[in-house]
Amino acid sequence: AGLNAVAQAAGKLYFGTATDNPELTDTAYVAILNDNEQFGQITAANSMKWDATEPEQGVFTFAQGDQIAELATNNGRLLRGHNCVWDQQLPAWVTAGNFNAAELTSIVQNHCGTVVGHYKGQVWDVVNEPFNDDGTFTSDVFFDTLGTNYINIALEAARAADPNAKLYINDFNIEGTGVKATAMKNLVTSLKSQGVPIDGVGFESHFIVGEVPSTLQQNMEEFIALGIEVAITELDVRMTLPETAALLEQQKNDYQTVITACQAVEGCVGITIWDFTDKFSWVPGAFPGQGAACPWDANLVKKPAFDGIVAGF
Ligand code: G3I
Repeated sequence: AGLNAVAQAAGKLYFGTATDNPELTDTAYVAILNDNEQFGQITAANSMKWDATEPEQGVFTFAQGDQIAELATNNGRLLRGHNCVWDQQLPAWVTAGNFNAAELTSIVQNHCGTVVGHYKGQVWDVVNEPFNDDGTFTSDVFFDTLGTNYINIALEAARAADPNAKLYINDFNIEGTGVKATAMKNLVTSLKSQGVPIDGVGFESHFIVGEVPSTLQQNMEEFIALGIEVAITELDVRMTLPETAALLEQQKNDYQTVITACQAVEGCVGITIWDFTDKFSWVPGAFPGQGAACPWDANLVKKPAFDGIVAGF
């Protein structure tokens, strides 16, 4: 059986994957991607980001994003919007714009409102990666101009554009308990006390073989106790190459550990892997010498990690 079929049989909403437009010319890849038994949810790895959707101020380009969205919606699958506000993959007009607070407020409102309104009835990573690893807020054009209020502005604009969308904040290194997770919990508590809409927190889960945090399940439960849901949004488990049988076996256990934690927590609604094949993983480009992070190898053959995922549900 496929991963989505197993996940849904176990009571989760979906098992999904990220994908990217250049990959869609690979017919063997697309055949797996379009198998609803494997994937019940799709995230655009790049083409709904700000540089792709509003390359010039007020000029919105949705052709690439729409191609990904149709993969999901034409097959009756869920789409995760990714993302409205992030300090990376911004067009130059945003970073170089030198906008005052009032100007940047309306820019964030217009951007989030337009993209969330375009992809309606979906889940959105409205705010992406707001924290540094020490739990302080990332210094970027948004925080430096608006303070933490940029988060309120983005979430409120998203809710106004689509009252039915699930609104998330998404980050990495918050999967285990610690200062960054605590900072995120404090942010959620603060937003809720202000009446700002927040429905969930995304645990990216870009892990290293043998290093899945032991507090993953406990930490999920602590987030859910705040009155929100959580999702695993960008799961992969990288290793230092070359891959060995022992590393692949540990990787299988690591995938299983993550699924088991989500499965144990009712408020963990679903799992997304950050592409399903080593052929298209972001890891080697970002971490030279590392890779083999996905459940399918570069020849589109299932690895032990695939069985680890199935075993976790
Ligand atoms: O589009 C250009 C292309 O024109 C150019 O020829 C090529 C040369 O390098 O670069 C292409 O842009 C790349 C882009 O992906 C599209 O492929 C960028 O260099 C590359 O940096 C960019 O990487 C993306 C990364 O986000 C940017 O930070 C990855 O594909 C994407 O998987 C990754 O995803 C992020 C999530 O959004 C947030 N969480 C972490 C995750 C992994 O970094």
